[in-house]
Amino acid sequence: MGILEWATNPWGQNVPIHIAWFLIWVSIIAGLLFLIVHATWLRFFAKSRQFASDTSPAIAPKIPKHVPRHSLVARLFHWVMAASMFTLLFTAFLPKVGVQFNWVTYHWIAGAVLTISILFHIVHASFWLDFWSIWPDKTDVQDAQRRLRRFFGLSAPPPRKFAKYPLENKLFHGVIILCGLAAILTGVFMMFRVRTIFFPRNPYLFGDMTWGLMYVLHGLAGVGLIALVMMHIYFGLRPEKQPITKSMIFGWMDRDFYLEEHDPDRWAVETSSISQPSRVDDRGLHDAG
Ligand code: HEM
Repeated sequence: MGILEWATNPWGQNVPIHIAWFLIWVSIIAGLLFLIVHATWLRFFAKSRQFASDTSPAIAPKIPKHVPRHSLVARLFHWVMAASMFTLLFTAFLPKVGVQFNWVTYHWIAGAVLTISILFHIVHASFWLDFWSIWPDKTDVQDAQRRLRRFFGLSAPPPRKFAKYPLENKLFHGVIILCGLAAILTGVFMMFRVRTIFFPRNPYLFGDMTWGLMYVLHGLAGVGLIALVMMHIYFGLRPEKQPITKSMIFGWMDRDFYLEEHDPDRWAVETSSISQPSRVDDRGLHDAG
């Protein structure tokens, strides 16, 4: 049983046509295993987290009660993307596991919404948000080494508190970019195989082998996204992560959570003597006005 399905084209060549659909179950089981192992580890074995230094007592009272984290535009993008991603996953994979319906139209429409929302996100993040906040920096790498050494019982100073995004979130974002872009780029070409409102159908754009490999890459990225989305939802629902999830709904997180996990030197929020909820601009900066 291979991981690809093959067919013979009219010229007698053996070409891949798509991934073998049992990979859907491989991804679901891998996702579930990750959740079980992680939840068991946290419940029974993990020690409480320690950070290097406490935030200076002079800074703490100046942090607003509600620390701005995601602007309205960033939150809207996130939920549009989530809705299109769910639609894509369900329309793609339900028919493969026996739930038959006319899925292709819903699928390419959701694909177009995802593509446009990601293009928007790239422009928004590059010019309006703090572009570098989601990429690992030197401190992340040093702290990852410290955490690893401490995990194996070796001596190392405790890691520092996080910037806006912990290393795990940054790595997850990187993997989602790889799978997401692979699904989007191949998906845009695959729209030439079906009737859409964007361009005339042209199944002869590529040869059989190129089309086959494109469907394979689309499928691999798609099944990868099943496990990634499962992990993302699992973390979003975990009690200790709920302040982060809430911030994706309301735009802010509590001062206490910010001070516990984040380093004001690495993620600066505008300090203020006024402890009131405030407007959030697109960089996530606090605006007391
Ligand atoms: C979460 C992301 C996505 C997943 C899980 C996914 C999954 C799939 C799967 C499994 C298929 C069936 C392919 C086959 O039979 O080998 C498919 C087909 C298709 N996908 Fe996606 N896809 C995603 C994103 C996209 C995007 C972003 C687009 C468009 C920009 C798109 C456009 C298409 C089209 C047009 C087809 C139909 C091709 C045909 O029937 O010939 N997909 N997708």
